[in-house]
Amino acid sequence: MHPKRQSQQRGGVVFGVPHRHYRVTDSTNSRARELAEDGALGGTVVTAREQTAGRGRLGRVWTAPEGKALLYSAILRPLDERHLLLPLSVPLAVCAAAEELCDGIECTVKWPNDVWLEQRKLAGILIEAKPQDGWAVIGIGLNLSIAPEEFPADLRQPAVSLFAATTEPRGGSRRSLPAVAPPGPPPRLATAAKVLSSHLGRWVSAPHDDVLAEWRRRDGLLGREVAWEEGSGIADGIDERGNLVVAVPGGGRVSLGAGEVQLRL
Ligand code: BTN
Repeated sequence: MHPKRQSQQRGGVVFGVPHRHYRVTDSTNSRARELAEDGALGGTVVTAREQTAGRGRLGRVWTAPEGKALLYSAILRPLDERHLLLPLSVPLAVCAAAEELCDGIECTVKWPNDVWLEQRKLAGILIEAKPQDGWAVIGIGLNLSIAPEEFPADLRQPAVSLFAATTEPRGGSRRSLPAVAPPGPPPRLATAAKVLSSHLGRWVSAPHDDVLAEWRRRDGLLGREVAWEEGSGIADGIDERGNLVVAVPGGGRVSLGAGEVQLRL
């Protein structure tokens, strides 16, 4: 059976058909949004070697040197109740893809939807949805081979790539990237996109219990001190709706929604 039909039978989505690749564009999310507005099929993927106006969360700019990051946007449609945990399921798909692309690593997730490798940001995710029209664009920037000195100096959080060596000690462990990075070149962008598409297809429509369990297994914030505008406390996992639960001083717990707060670590 054609893989697309096989997956649709299981109620999943096949990403990557069709796939439109640009050598350079302003933002793959912007291209994918235009396509979605024009009625493009769910599963359509847009990638680029380079973006001139890449967008991050909270109105930030997202930059990456040409050809050194997977710049990927996928259209999800139709949207339904299976996708309520989309902001959690997408980072899980990115973790699985990164681990398939780079043997021996283990990724964690940082609420609301970053992917970490040894406490540094490996990938960022920007989901832009138009629920009234039944679609969402899932934008992913996955650092593949950006050298440490190529990241902008003013990054709020330290960043890392799957395949770029650094001599600095990383995270709490004293390991440096060459100890965990495979020798050999990074994958081609097309290969990385295919791997990501296949994990995305599995995770975006996964049962909510599976998403919550996998998030809890990969939770990189658990037990860490977090602060936001109105308070601070110790991260204590996520609730059933994907809100961050924080144990606050003096006892008690608060739930934080991704749209409401900006965390400081
Ligand atoms: C973030 O961490 O702030 C999210 C970054 C998302 C960046 C990706 S790169 C591909 C896609 N196109 C964009 O303009 N943004 C997303």
